[in-house]
Amino acid sequence: MQALTGKIAVITGGNSGIGKATAQLFAQQGAKVAITGRRQDVLDAAVAEIGSGVVGIQGDSADIAQHTRLVREIRQRFGELDIFVANAGVIKLAPSDKVTVEDYDHQFDVNTRGVFFGVQAILPLMRDGGSIILVSSIAATKTLDNHAVYAGSKAAIGAFARAWALELKARKIRVNVLSPGPVETPILDKLGVTAKERPDFVKAMGDMIPLGRMGLPADLASAALFLACDAGSFITGIELTVDGGMSLT
Ligand SMILES: NC(=O)c1ccc[n+]([C@@H]2O[C@H](COP(=O)([O-])OP(=O)(O)OC[C@H]3O[C@@H](n4cnc5c(N)ncnc54)[C@H](OP(=O)(O)O)[C@@H]3O)[C@@H](O)[C@H]2O)c1
Repeated sequence: MQALTGKIAVITGGNSGIGKATAQLFAQQGAKVAITGRRQDVLDAAVAEIGSGVVGIQGDSADIAQHTRLVREIRQRFGELDIFVANAGVIKLAPSDKVTVEDYDHQFDVNTRGVFFGVQAILPLMRDGGSIILVSSIAATKTLDNHAVYAGSKAAIGAFARAWALELKARKIRVNVLSPGPVETPILDKLGVTAKERPDFVKAMGDMIPLGRMGLPADLASAALFLACDAGSFITGIELTVDGGMSLT
């Protein structure tokens, strides 16, 4: 018996990294999965890679009007849904005196506002007993250099999750946060780590992590599965940290 047989899941930012690995695992576990992302070519490649059980719906989480379109497409294709993973996220590191209004707004538009209004839009389609997972970061609680804006944008969604866990209790919809530590995904390229620098970067990060390595997308996918499926059925309002112990350092 697969853990998600008969379930419908939507994963924002499911065309890359943690979201793609989660979509792959959810599909292997019997769910029908819709993944979103802005880049149509990357979305198409992810759908082809994951194979059956997955559809791609192009969209920008920072654009509130597109949540309405996503909901319309999910309703047409699936009718309802059981699992929503708000995973799409962006990061731009800078010391606070160098942060531009554009960089601040972009991180909050995607990581915070996009999560709030994404959940608000999708809730009418969610079956009672569903699971909402918000992908945050250990940066929300651990102070890291140059992370002030990103950390703030992620800390807010922890507060949303705790509020929603109580607001949605009558519907038995569980709301939890997944907080990764450093994970080897394409986000490293976006942070400016070149292919040449990558092995040394990964080694140096691994040396800072008690379990001795960076996280892999599959580490986060299995934690997301736990929160999504019946194994996590008595868990709501928590932050599940998946960081090899980095937040202890
Ligand atoms: N990797 C890490 O070390 C790490 C650590 C802590 C937390 N996280 C969090 O984990 C989540 C996934 O990150 P990742 O490492 O897997 O990074 P990734 O490989 O860069 O994936 C980010 C995903 O978000 C999508 N996305 C970005 N902006 C979007 C927008 N405006 N609308 C819709 N989709 C958007 C991207 O697709 P498009 O570009 O095509 O839109 C992509 O699918 C993020 O929330 C990130 O903050 C990552």
